[in-house]
Amino acid sequence: MDPLAQLKERISGARSLVVLTGAGISADSGVPTFRGTDGLWRSFRAEDLATPEAFARDPRLVWEWYDWRRGLISTKRPNAAHVALADLERRGPSFHLITQNVDGLHRNAGSQWLTEIHGNIWMVRCTACGSVEPNHDVPIALLPICRHCRGLLRPHIVWFGEALAAADIQQSLKAVQSCDVLLVVGTSGVVYPAAGFASLAKEQGAFVAEINIEPTGNSHIVDVAVQGRARDVVPLLL
Ligand code: APR
Repeated sequence: MDPLAQLKERISGARSLVVLTGAGISADSGVPTFRGTDGLWRSFRAEDLATPEAFARDPRLVWEWYDWRRGLISTKRPNAAHVALADLERRGPSFHLITQNVDGLHRNAGSQWLTEIHGNIWMVRCTACGSVEPNHDVPIALLPICRHCRGLLRPHIVWFGEALAAADIQQSLKAVQSCDVLLVVGTSGVVYPAAGFASLAKEQGAFVAEINIEPTGNSHIVDVAVQGRARDVVPLLL
């Protein structure tokens, strides 16, 4: 049976379906990935921007980069893959979406059973009082300050070297360790803990599938790999 037919059969019979997405699912919406040929890390050094040290050293530089990314993402819309996952969620029985993306496109597409494990570029967090609030200002006035305590705001994003929110880790591990089908879409599988979810699911007996335009760090673990663009393949799973 061809990989797509096999995956469709597994999904239609799934008791509990978990989907893990990465930048590849948003590439078809025009949001640059990180490590691809036109990836963000080609033109920026992650260490200079997406770390607490970089923010402490030069908060304006870091905010200018995030302001640029927010401006870019604000012009992008969910594509057919995001919409198909929101439809899949509504079909039940048990569905959970874990995304590494901070662009908010899954929410815009209507996904609700969603864990944004690396945060959300449209949320800001006060470095002084810790309050977390939505902020959609494009451009954002630099440097942004907290309306409660006037502390310096930062993007509510998990930077390199920072831990994920404990609740997000627990929710994700619970989903991955109890699912019978895990679908991994558009991630290079190199950043942990998400990069370890495929083997975690496999260890507990789940059927693990991958949709990507090329082989990844997970390809040797998955039961089926469907090669193709998320926008083209994911809607076929409905
Ligand atoms: N359809 C499916 N897959 C695609 C598409 C597409 N149209 N375009 C690109 N891809 C795949 C690439 O082949 C690659 O495997 O998407 C993946 C993108 O990989 P990365 O750029 O490494 O993005 P991601 O895996 O999400 O990065 C994980 O790293 O930089 C940090 O926190 C950031 O969340 C990010 C994390």
